[in-house]
Amino acid sequence: MPFDLSRRALFTGAAGATVTGLAAAGLTGCSQPAAQALPDQAFPPGRIDPYLLGPGEGVALLSRNENPYGPAQSALDMIEYAATKGAYYANQEAYMTLAALIAERNGVDPEQVVLTTGSGEVLSAIALLYGPRGPILAPRLFWDTTALYAANLGLAEIERVPLTADMGIDLPAIEARVTADTGLVQLCNPNNPTGLVAEPAEFQAAVRRMAATTTVLVDEAYIELSDDPEANSCVPLIREGHDVIVTRTFSKIYGMAGIRVGYAIASAETAAAIRPVVMSWSPCTSYAAGIGCYDDTDFIDYSRSKIVEGRDMVFATLDTLGLDYLPSQTNFVYFRSGIGANPLQAAMAERQISIRGQYMDYADWSRVSMGRIEDVERFCTSLPQILGA
Ligand SMILES: Cc1ncc(COP(=O)(O)O)c(C=O)c1O
Repeated sequence: MPFDLSRRALFTGAAGATVTGLAAAGLTGCSQPAAQALPDQAFPPGRIDPYLLGPGEGVALLSRNENPYGPAQSALDMIEYAATKGAYYANQEAYMTLAALIAERNGVDPEQVVLTTGSGEVLSAIALLYGPRGPILAPRLFWDTTALYAANLGLAEIERVPLTADMGIDLPAIEARVTADTGLVQLCNPNNPTGLVAEPAEFQAAVRRMAATTTVLVDEAYIELSDDPEANSCVPLIREGHDVIVTRTFSKIYGMAGIRVGYAIASAETAAAIRPVVMSWSPCTSYAAGIGCYDDTDFIDYSRSKIVEGRDMVFATLDTLGLDYLPSQTNFVYFRSGIGANPLQAAMAERQISIRGQYMDYADWSRVSMGRIEDVERFCTSLPQILGA
């Protein structure tokens, strides 16, 4: 049982017995917001800004879909242990331990899991692998950073399909464009920046049909935040043998955007094809953190509850102001302020509140992420003031 042995060894090692320096600095724990400055004495005088990492002093960081309630204490303990082993490249056993945990929960084999430095890396590898085979077919609005990465290298072309009138993914229109020459269909569910989750039965039926002709990639970065992650996920389609790849991340519900752990689940053959295209090796701290918190349901529940609390506050503010918004099932809300995304972003920035600016030609739509509750409160108070409401 190498899996059990390695887990026990990790948990009874240095990590188990100590209180971390970070905890002492007030940076840890699910009830303790992580985004605070380190005490001055932690830095050589004048050398490093105490706000070197995380939000700057006084800034409400609501633009990057991070989860400030992470990392979980269970992850931090493992990071401290892993840092003491930082002289060494991460062992294959650490990779396999985390892959086995993910595989077990998803009902697949560990060789069907590809671990990377955030899901961005595996998504980039997938774009590099499939882009040269034909166009990447996607909704007009999706998290396109990694498809653009391949496109900017001349290795992919993105074919964007307009959204439905209510900003959903137009599945019939995408399906109608799938041919044997399509390199990849890329869908993001829940979608970013809309925050919308597709209706599960309809979505999965369309993915099944499209996967009979080409590979379908479903980016599930925010799936754990949706109301019913099990029902919404396309992982069962992989188990059924369809040509589907699902990617997920520890950056969102697990609050580890800066630690960099993500993964893809696919058939063993597809995973074996993706692995050599992955550009780097994850830090030992990433694998360790993932192992530490993957099953931390207390933290996950806490994280979700804080995100939903913030989201409800934003919904209530938008309702009061009579503004349109999409019913997000994520840690961000896409809404129309009536003054344009870029002017609103600038007005918020004057108040040290960071939100997203305009996407493509969606000039009216703004995206605000759920941060610490006090930061969401600042947004909710500032919005009517800026709009003169
Ligand atoms: C939909 C989606 N997928 C993937 C990512 C990449 O995240 P990471 O590389 O941190 O896993 C993001 C980042 O915001 C995202 O919004």
